[in-house]
Amino acid sequence: MMFPYIYIYKHCSIPPITSQATTPFTFYFPFPVMASIFSPLTTIFFFLIVLWGGEARDPFACDPKNAATRGLPFCKASLAIAERVKDLIGRLTVEEKVSLLVNNAAAVPRLGIKGYEWWSEALHGVSNVGPGTKFGGQFPAATSFPQVITTAASFNASLWEAIGQVASDEARAMYNGGTSGLTYWSPNVNIFRDPRWGRGQETPGEDPLLAGKYAASYVRGLQGSDGDRLKVAACCKHFTAYDLDNWKGVDRFHFNAEVSKQDMEETFNVPFRMCVKEGNVASVMCSYNQVNGVPTCADPVLLKTTVRSLWGLNGYIVSDCDSVGVFYNSQHYTSTPEEAAADAIKAGLDLDCGPFLAQHTNNAVKKGLLSEADVNGALANTLTVQMRLGMYDGEPSGHPYGNLGPRDVCTPSHQHLALEAATQGIVLLKNKGPSLPLSTRTYRTLAVIGPNSNATVTMIGNYAGIACGYTSPLQGIGKYAKTVIHEMGCANVACRDNKQFGRAINAAQQADATVLVMGLDQSIEAETVDRAGLLLPGHQQDLVSKVASASKGPTILVIMSGGPVDITFAKNDPRIEGILWAGYPGQAGGAAIADILFGTSNPGGKLPMTWYPEGYVEKLAMTNMAMRSSKSKGYPGRTYRFYSGPVVYPFGYGLSYTHFVQTLASAPKVVSIPVDGHRQKNSSNIANKAIKVTHARCGKLSVSLHVDVKNVGSRYGTHTLLVFSAPPPGNGHWAPHKQLVGFHKVHLPPKAQQRLRINIHVCKLLSVVDTSGTRRIPMGSHTLHIAHIKHSLTLHPQTL
Ligand SMILES: *[C@@H]1O[C@H](CO)[C@@H](O)[C@H](O)[C@H]1NC(C)=O
Ligand SMILES: *[C@@H]1O[C@H](CO)[C@@H](O)[C@H](O)[C@H]1NC(C)=O
Ligand SMILES: *[C@@H]1O[C@H](CO)[C@@H](O)[C@H](O)[C@H]1NC(C)=O
Repeated sequence: MMFPYIYIYKHCSIPPITSQATTPFTFYFPFPVMASIFSPLTTIFFFLIVLWGGEARDPFACDPKNAATRGLPFCKASLAIAERVKDLIGRLTVEEKVSLLVNNAAAVPRLGIKGYEWWSEALHGVSNVGPGTKFGGQFPAATSFPQVITTAASFNASLWEAIGQVASDEARAMYNGGTSGLTYWSPNVNIFRDPRWGRGQETPGEDPLLAGKYAASYVRGLQGSDGDRLKVAACCKHFTAYDLDNWKGVDRFHFNAEVSKQDMEETFNVPFRMCVKEGNVASVMCSYNQVNGVPTCADPVLLKTTVRSLWGLNGYIVSDCDSVGVFYNSQHYTSTPEEAAADAIKAGLDLDCGPFLAQHTNNAVKKGLLSEADVNGALANTLTVQMRLGMYDGEPSGHPYGNLGPRDVCTPSHQHLALEAATQGIVLLKNKGPSLPLSTRTYRTLAVIGPNSNATVTMIGNYAGIACGYTSPLQGIGKYAKTVIHEMGCANVACRDNKQFGRAINAAQQADATVLVMGLDQSIEAETVDRAGLLLPGHQQDLVSKVASASKGPTILVIMSGGPVDITFAKNDPRIEGILWAGYPGQAGGAAIADILFGTSNPGGKLPMTWYPEGYVEKLAMTNMAMRSSKSKGYPGRTYRFYSGPVVYPFGYGLSYTHFVQTLASAPKVVSIPVDGHRQKNSSNIANKAIKVTHARCGKLSVSLHVDVKNVGSRYGTHTLLVFSAPPPGNGHWAPHKQLVGFHKVHLPPKAQQRLRINIHVCKLLSVVDTSGTRRIPMGSHTLHIAHIKHSLTLHPQTL
């Protein structure tokens, strides 16, 4: 009976670092209580799964061989799902219902339903974080794509969807073999608000539109597009304003994020809204932190009103692991555990990752804090998702994905997509000369130096699984160079001493060119680890400078990191001729780096977040959630939308080996916005104001621009066109300097030109949010920024 406990102990939330005297261990892992949750049956089932390895699993429920259940309405695939769910709920006792409210949902043997582990993860490929997925047997590994921050840098929505499709093929294959679940708690779409955040690497960056498009595309890839049926169920997390893990003694389990209505509507909630409304995600996860004094998992305004009613979530809401326990035990939000259980369910929580709801919901019902109807409501949401997944159809045989198996995992084409994703995501930051790409004829002996030069596991970042295989930078470069001289330079990324510097310098002196692969790993930035500063750790900077000045040939610096690094020294050092940011480039990262260094691929990635100088983080506490700058408070503001101070590299920055020129072929100068006249008491008043979006007839009202993009260089390349808008001046206290309103990616051979049509939805993209959280469209002259082109677009109201 120890085995399941170890699971919970290892994975189900990293125990809160409590400042008070309560001991998290006795509380979070109450062994006697846990024993009652893991019934002997669940355990036997569990071991059977492990023993079966890759053999096709038995159906989860409604086994056609089970005469006792196959005729029951909830097993009839021909009936409407709502009807089947109602039938099933009607057959369950209160105790059974309560045992289904947790990630480790108990079996209901009398109804032929097996236990189910809801917690699996697939942030960038099937992951082994979460007890629902086990690697081994016929499924030793899965394709490990680049970390999300790297993939985001591709600005390519079809790539995001393609990765989701591959991950869900592999996930279904593993489910069919009994080694994984069908409910994946990915992606993480919190805004990368502060560059120190240890989990920024998991996100698509700092821009709400980019993050929202990423969310919708990746979720579509995972869930498939077969109407209401789900290939696997995705989950957008962590709702909301969660982007601090552990900074100067403040941790996510105790943090109360104070967020203005304006920032909430305009920044923090945008990716979640797009995930639900455009991605039709099957689940949303609430976070550990409080928002404005209320734990997100106990907030009916966030869960019931916003996610379920306003955005229309068709799916279930799950807690972060043990977050109900956290708000009771660490935040002392309620005085009894039953109240905590009742508050969570009444707020709209449907499933608890953790044991808390299984332990306390029954008593909450007995005490009258919660009705059985509330429990039924939660169950209806989880059971509906399981039915949409086909789990009550006697699957896996006969299911559309029932034939996926071990041969569909780590296929050559899947692994090729991992390489492709890394290639599309790597960003060229500096190319003096240009010295890149390196010619294999000139540079035959290469020095490959640095603590990440032979990285493997580092390249897949966190929330990864077991990769099919790796190509380290050393191996990748080794395929191009005649001779490689390899030196680590530092024992690890912490680089606490300079003992190995002499050998590294020696290597650089002998080589025709030097590649330094430096940066961070999970010991520096991770879940529960926020960074203190933005510089390279330890003596890394010193190593880079010393090697660069000793190097016989050109020195190229490759940075592996999730968050931005202040590498001003390298940007300014003329002896460092090229800089690449590889993010955490996934299992094929070393091959992608080498292909770019030697010109087999032309880099096209753009930074999905601002690279700030070190001095920036000294000016603002990580706990300050405000996006806007404040002169009087000396507060610099956050992200390219609100911060206007010096940067190392801006959002959207990235070079290519070729050059692109863009010209505006056509664009309207004036657009009328139809406004409901009766809403405006004095229509002559609104001409220079900002009209509420709800008062405008938005429909499909959009502006179309045509932009010609020409490759004027001599190499094939891809170009990402970023379009920003700046609202008219005069709304200074609300409006961002500029905001991303669209991005478009093209491939172009040398000398080729393509005309791009860019549609900008006026109400969605040209609106700004006022201080009360209301979205408004400012009338007057907006400026569209398309590369170096500035185009003025005047909006005026047309009263109906
Ligand atoms: C976007 O990614 C897909 C999938 O890898 C690829 O086929 C396509 O060419 C990419 N688009 C551009 C413009 O690079
Ligand atoms: C590179 O890493 C691999 C795998 O971790 C290891 O087997 C190999 O010995 C390392 N190579 C060098 C030159 O350190
Ligand atoms: C409408 O607003 C304008 C400008 O503020 C003002 O001059 C005019 O008197 C107003 N008309 C009415 C009917 O209130």
